[in-house]
Amino acid sequence: MFETLKPSNLLKKQCGIVRRPSSTRPAIWVVEENGVRAVVKDYSANRFFFRNTIGRFLVWREGKALRKLNDLKGVPGLYRVLGGLALVMEEIPGRSLENLEKEMRLPESFFSALKDLVDGFHKRGVAHCDLKRAPNTLLGDDGLPYVIDWGASISKGEFRISPLDLIYRRFLLDDHMAIIKLKLRHTPEAVTSEERERYDHRSGGEKLIRAIRDRLREFLQRIT
Ligand SMILES: Nc1ncnc2c1ncn2[C@@H]1O[C@H](COP(=O)(O)OP(=O)(O)O)[C@@H](O)[C@H]1O
Ligand SMILES: [Mg+2]
Repeated sequence: MFETLKPSNLLKKQCGIVRRPSSTRPAIWVVEENGVRAVVKDYSANRFFFRNTIGRFLVWREGKALRKLNDLKGVPGLYRVLGGLALVMEEIPGRSLENLEKEMRLPESFFSALKDLVDGFHKRGVAHCDLKRAPNTLLGDDGLPYVIDWGASISKGEFRISPLDLIYRRFLLDDHMAIIKLKLRHTPEAVTSEERERYDHRSGGEKLIRAIRDRLREFLQRIT
């Protein structure tokens, strides 16, 4: 599938743009071949420095996670990686959870399915690490949850040696915290007191990592 695609002909072959590239974000295209649509997350149009450092790194990270989770329903399938700079993946028809609570309330069943999905990728040894951002969870047209944006994910194998294993466990917990955060927006009455307790006592670790990431983004915006 999509064998003729290259970073250099993407512009010509795309059939829709979801988002233009910015200084720190890839372009998102839609491509279609034999009636199959795919989403392309493409760093090839980003500036030279960003493209060849962070861009390549994130494509490698995301590709690695998507390959590992290939058999898991709820994670887009990976078709191809183009020149280390762009990922061609299954398009999930649906919409993201960003601001969704202003339009509708997701039922509790959505969040239990999301929890099963998170348990599914944890069982395969991958922590997502960026689930707190609502745009990274999609509500599929089938009503089911999908998780995208695996560039920040980490795998258990890389973090197996102590004390890294503790960090990995922290990230597993953060993925679960993210579900509670989303659930609080949609069905707060379904959040159990035990979940609320855990959420209120989450550690500063996650906040620290977020702060570092935000600084890095600002820094890259300045230099790219
Ligand atoms: N596989 C996919 N199917 C449908 N839409 C997608 C898919 N991947 C990305 N998108 C859309 O593109 C947006 C950005 O993708 P994402 O992977 O979160 O990149 P980033 O966070 O770097 O902007 C998502 O919020 C979603 O709207
Ligand atoms: Mg995202």
